[in-house]
Amino acid sequence: MFTPAITGTGVFTPSQTITNAELVAAFNAYADKTNAENAKAIAAGEMEPLAHSSEEFILKASGIEQRYVMDKSGVLNPEVMHPLLRQRGDDEPSIMAEMALDAAKKALAQAGKTVADVDTVICAASNMERAYPALAIEIQDLLGIKGFAFDMNVACSSATFGIQAAADMVRSGSIRSALVVNPEICSGHLEWRDRDCHFIFGDVATATLIERSEDATGAYFEILSTRCATSFSNNIRNNNGYLRRSRPDGVEDRRDMQFMQNGRKVFKEVLPMVSQHIAEHMEAEGVSNTDLKRLWLHQANKTMNDFIGKKVLGRTPEAGEQPNILQDYANTSSAGSIIAFSKYSDDLSAGDLGLICSFGAGYSVGSVILRRVS
Ligand code: COA
Repeated sequence: MFTPAITGTGVFTPSQTITNAELVAAFNAYADKTNAENAKAIAAGEMEPLAHSSEEFILKASGIEQRYVMDKSGVLNPEVMHPLLRQRGDDEPSIMAEMALDAAKKALAQAGKTVADVDTVICAASNMERAYPALAIEIQDLLGIKGFAFDMNVACSSATFGIQAAADMVRSGSIRSALVVNPEICSGHLEWRDRDCHFIFGDVATATLIERSEDATGAYFEILSTRCATSFSNNIRNNNGYLRRSRPDGVEDRRDMQFMQNGRKVFKEVLPMVSQHIAEHMEAEGVSNTDLKRLWLHQANKTMNDFIGKKVLGRTPEAGEQPNILQDYANTSSAGSIIAFSKYSDDLSAGDLGLICSFGAGYSVGSVILRRVS
């Protein structure tokens, strides 16, 4: 048996941002336009007018101040209200692969490794831009990695489930190392025309290199333990899929072809599930809350993270103990906890313990307990 370790991480951040002010102005213009176009139906009581969105609500309800996106022009155009991405030819790198590639190269550079040191690529994300061939195999090819690659989707928990799969393979000796990449174009499945959720998501890609600890060339994080759990729920759901055209109104512009959630229920049900999951994982590993130096949580909602941080540590976390990046990135699905880890882990000292935890649709929750080794 070998000891798996995280030796490098990387983050690809898109160049375009949308502030809450820009987002709300575009949504309100769309709402006014829609209401004007449907004035008769609204007057006849056949349709509810769309209400305006508000910057104050968004900040208070979520903690989000802005989000990075691959295209803001379409999202902010009241005639479009979704990203506009160039159709790439089949012989060009796909957009998710390109994002993942950037993050993967940064992870390799941080670990002081080259593609020759990597055996496996796992593309773990909430959405794949095509059915097949697997994105991971394209990323493997673009990087020039031998071995094998595969895609996996556990929505917002994809990264931690991917880390568990990679760590288990490294531990057993079937591979020496794996790159787990999480390219997330959440702007593509977000319903920007729905004020209840239009502020939630952003785009990003992250990468994590998992190797045998004996192969690390610099400081690294030993993976002490991973734990994954799932429990079926319809409270976060998207009905888009390959059977779409086979259904009577399947190709219509249907609301359920984009992200849908019952936010209040998610809040109420996921919080106890996650808090209990982390507590049981820590107990099983003999890790007490006074041992934990840092929590890198899924980045969906500030209030949720404050609650979980307090529950896990048994007190209000000190500044920096439970870093949030959601104010800048919004919810980037599987990538959120890895962005937080990548940006806020270098300062830990040898022996310090930390925990990555992601959670979301499924429901799903995954946690990784790490120890810093210098
Ligand atoms: N601007 C202004 N008002 C808004 C609004 C907007 N953009 N969106 C909703 N509102 C209104 C609602 O219509 C509602 O009005 P009502 O009380 O008159 O019915 C009110 O604000 C409260 O809405 P609600 O949806 O109950 O807000 P909330 O406090 O639950 O916050 C979320 C909404 C989505 C931020 C919150 O539920 C959440 O984060 N849930 C967990 C989400 C999550 O983690 N999802 C995982 C995704 S992978």
